[in-house]
Amino acid sequence: GAGGSCGSRNLIFNGTTEEVKKIVNTLNEGKVPSQDVVEVVISPPFVFLPLVKGSLRPDFHVAAQNCWVKKGGAFTGEVSAEMLVNLGIPWVILGHSERRLLLGESNGFVGDKVAYALSQGIKVIACVGETLEQREAGSTMDVVAAQTKAIAERVSNWNDVVVAYEPVWAIGTGKVATPTQAQEVHFELRKWLEKNVSPQVAASTRIIYGGSVSGANCKELAAQPDVDGFLVGGASLKPEFIDIIKSAE
Ligand code: G3H
Repeated sequence: GAGGSCGSRNLIFNGTTEEVKKIVNTLNEGKVPSQDVVEVVISPPFVFLPLVKGSLRPDFHVAAQNCWVKKGGAFTGEVSAEMLVNLGIPWVILGHSERRLLLGESNGFVGDKVAYALSQGIKVIACVGETLEQREAGSTMDVVAAQTKAIAERVSNWNDVVVAYEPVWAIGTGKVATPTQAQEVHFELRKWLEKNVSPQVAASTRIIYGGSVSGANCKELAAQPDVDGFLVGGASLKPEFIDIIKSAE
């Protein structure tokens, strides 16, 4: 079973309640394979989480786009894992490149977040990925290995972790990684997990791809042996998202 995931990150900038309701309606009406075939997780900004959770079809699940690094307390402006648990939010996206690059979240900080969210029973979509400069310098694998290592050092149970490989140069740019480029990194990541965590974790952990996934390119990407699903941004706001979900079949 593939794991299709969706991050409606574009809503951060242009989402309104009306737009969110429209997207949820489209999702609710979509004919998609059953949960055993594809797991669909919708990730709106914090403020829309209760609305989406309350109106989304029950076979789709909901994720937050971030949460605080440790136990909740006096951290004005932050949303804790405990609050997500209280709202019944089962998933969280952590370490998105926008947070790593724009907000300075380090590998260790992201690793701490992953460990804390898991400790509270929240499933994690942990993002890794290189910038264009890093790819051009030939350090793609070093970068994603270091990002994954910071998580592996802090996490012992990988059952509730999905790794999302998102090359930064492909996010929101329309410049999708070729199926070969995606497969290459996914394969290396799995090999890294096999060597540094365990063969069992390497075999069972879903590694999903994100970065300009669309209705037009999803099939070829999904056909790659180590691509287990997608983290979709822009296209998740459009009806073609249903086609992307179907590519898991
Ligand atoms: O949050 C979503 C991912 O970063 C991918 O975004 O599909 O718009 O490139 P995108």
